[in-house]
Amino acid sequence: MTMDPEALRERAASALLAARDRTRLLTTCVEEPDLVAQHSPLMSPLVWDLAHIGNQEEQWLLRTVGGRDALRPDIDSVYDAFEHPRAARPSLPLLAPAEAHGYVADVRARALDILERIPLCGGPLLDAGFAFGMIAQHEQQHDETMLITHQLRRGPAVLTEAEPLPALVDGILPAEVLVPGGPFTMGTSTEPWALDNERPAHRRMVPSFLIDTTPVSNGAYQRFIEDGGYDDPRWWAADGWAHVREHGLHAPLFWRREGNQWLRRRFGVTEPVPPDEPVLHVSWYEADAYARWAGRRLPTEAEWEKAARHGPADGRAMRYPWGDEDPTPAHANLGQRYLRPAPVGSYPDGESPLGVRQLIGDVWEWTASDFLPYPGFAAFPYREYSEVFFGSSYKVLRGGSFAVDPVACRGTFRNWDLPIRRQIFSGFRTARDADPVAEA
Ligand SMILES: [Fe+2]
Repeated sequence: MTMDPEALRERAASALLAARDRTRLLTTCVEEPDLVAQHSPLMSPLVWDLAHIGNQEEQWLLRTVGGRDALRPDIDSVYDAFEHPRAARPSLPLLAPAEAHGYVADVRARALDILERIPLCGGPLLDAGFAFGMIAQHEQQHDETMLITHQLRRGPAVLTEAEPLPALVDGILPAEVLVPGGPFTMGTSTEPWALDNERPAHRRMVPSFLIDTTPVSNGAYQRFIEDGGYDDPRWWAADGWAHVREHGLHAPLFWRREGNQWLRRRFGVTEPVPPDEPVLHVSWYEADAYARWAGRRLPTEAEWEKAARHGPADGRAMRYPWGDEDPTPAHANLGQRYLRPAPVGSYPDGESPLGVRQLIGDVWEWTASDFLPYPGFAAFPYREYSEVFFGSSYKVLRGGSFAVDPVACRGTFRNWDLPIRRQIFSGFRTARDADPVAEA
């Protein structure tokens, strides 16, 4: 992405504007009581996310990049995510909704003024408009978080889809794809708005493996349930087994059984579980157990990225499975365009050269891997972005979901969460080692 300064400025401004449009939608579609309420102890009140978005923008774009005086230093502590866990945020002295809307609008006007005036070069925060891209991604990530809050909220539907999902499945696909062994380039040193944990690019040796062509579907997951998957400790990691027993889990979050049918709640609507959609709202433990039941395993993070980015013809690492072009609606289900993942096998235009589909968009995919730094990692611009999360507590998710905006989604993008979490838009696909005979 080499761009002249004007094109860069326009890209940064439009990324910020797109994020703000979405923030506005998510914070004006409910009344004030729903903005200040905590809908789940796992989530912040929506009005906390809103003002936190503005506070981060103020700290980075106005104070650090623009060198301006602090607008509201008195609220920095209230909106510091590390100072206050989500469960404690409703009791903080939060800005009221109207005040929060006014604050974020004021910050944004000043940020756009700085963007107009400042050279987009001369340091890592300014080069290619990184700080502006980082803040647009931050806002979009909170928009995804707020969409999760909407999914957890009880009450009638307030979000609607502009259009129904198009029919994009184009025939019978092979169940799995062989990815030949050998080295590939993981991570990036060139993607201008990539975050610290995606860097630097480095070579990895990955032996041959087979990976599912598509994410695991609801229908396939139902077979695991009906086969007694939740009642059989053979399939579960020890911690996972203890967790499902303690909490009485027997299906993905938001599912319930009525007669002989599975129903799910989706943004305020209860509907039959569609068997052909990727399974959604499963924990890492559930994904891992399903894979073992199926005689398979979760892909490692390196396997996932190789399937998504490695060009087998020239050995080059691509930005996306389909090449280097930014995502379009034909490539992937991103950006909250729809409020659901597309049926498995959709998006032929987004498939990898080897034929793997829906790696980008639809559902975040759990991988087998812990969240660890790449060799040569350097924290930037602050340790709390990634470094404090490295270790064996968190598992990596890849590829983004229907709730992720293209600005915060790349073949190199890494997400992480605790293995028990399932309020997130998480699914998975499975893999296995290649059979040496079949591969020869
Ligand atoms: Fe944040």
